[in-house]
Amino acid sequence: MKILPGPASKELGEKVAQLLGVQIVPVFFKSFPDGESYVRLDGEVKGEEAVIIQTTSPPQDTRLIQLALIADAAKRNDATRIVAVVPYLAYARQDKVFLKGEAISIEAIAKMLKATGIDNLITVNVHQKNVLEKFPFQAKSISAIPLLAEHFKHRGFKEAFALAPDKGAIGIAEEASKVLGGDFGYLEKQRDRYTGCVSVEKKEFAVKGKTVIIFDDIISTGGTIVAAANVLNELGAAKVYAACVHPLLVGEAEKRIRQAGVEEIVGTDSVPSSVSKVSLSPLIAQALRELQSG
Ligand code: R5P
Repeated sequence: MKILPGPASKELGEKVAQLLGVQIVPVFFKSFPDGESYVRLDGEVKGEEAVIIQTTSPPQDTRLIQLALIADAAKRNDATRIVAVVPYLAYARQDKVFLKGEAISIEAIAKMLKATGIDNLITVNVHQKNVLEKFPFQAKSISAIPLLAEHFKHRGFKEAFALAPDKGAIGIAEEASKVLGGDFGYLEKQRDRYTGCVSVEKKEFAVKGKTVIIFDDIISTGGTIVAAANVLNELGAAKVYAACVHPLLVGEAEKRIRQAGVEEIVGTDSVPSSVSKVSLSPLIAQALRELQSG
């Protein structure tokens, strides 16, 4: 096995290679003056399993094209199997037709990746697991929630309340509560499909005077966390923290969340950012070991 760290996940790729004790094939990349991407493998992959590690956070389209080009290069240089580790899988939230005339974006992306020669995909906390069933190759999602919860536990947050900001994330909150040992719950969230605005219904939780950690897969604009934090503040929570696997933190998200009274945001290096305090490297290394052992 050789690790090919893509331009979007260079550091993470290097950490995974180090944990596994395997060689790296550096990927040279550049953008042409007109914006097109270029990649070149700076080493041999012939007869090897090539593991590309490349997240597809913004700029998503460029990251996806780079991934496709690296896979194509690995294929034509005779790698035996191509595994794509894509911590943040872009377009996974458009997993059905919500409004007539839309595309199912994630299916289109899956077909494109198949065409480049990818045999296997590992992602982390994909938005809806069932989207992977439609992939034309083996695709698996692993969870970083225990790692995030452990991070808080080590800091003394035992028995903190784990809150999911919407019903879809209830499994995440439950997973976190198993590590933290406290209660968990979820809010009812609505998002306007045209404006993108988020509203959250107030629910009665016994969080008065307690520390609450809001767990979600993605923080994008921060609207979801802000809405959830407002409810928690009304309910008298003592301290509110936010944890997510994919800290996209678009625009002023971080500032908005802090202004809503959230003490701290903790994310992973799925998306390298100022809040990426937890590394996915042990989780990915383990998933690759399991893949190798069949
Ligand atoms: C959606 O259901 C996801 O789980 C996240 O809650 C959402 O993507 C967060 O987006 P934003 O930060 O823009 O509210």
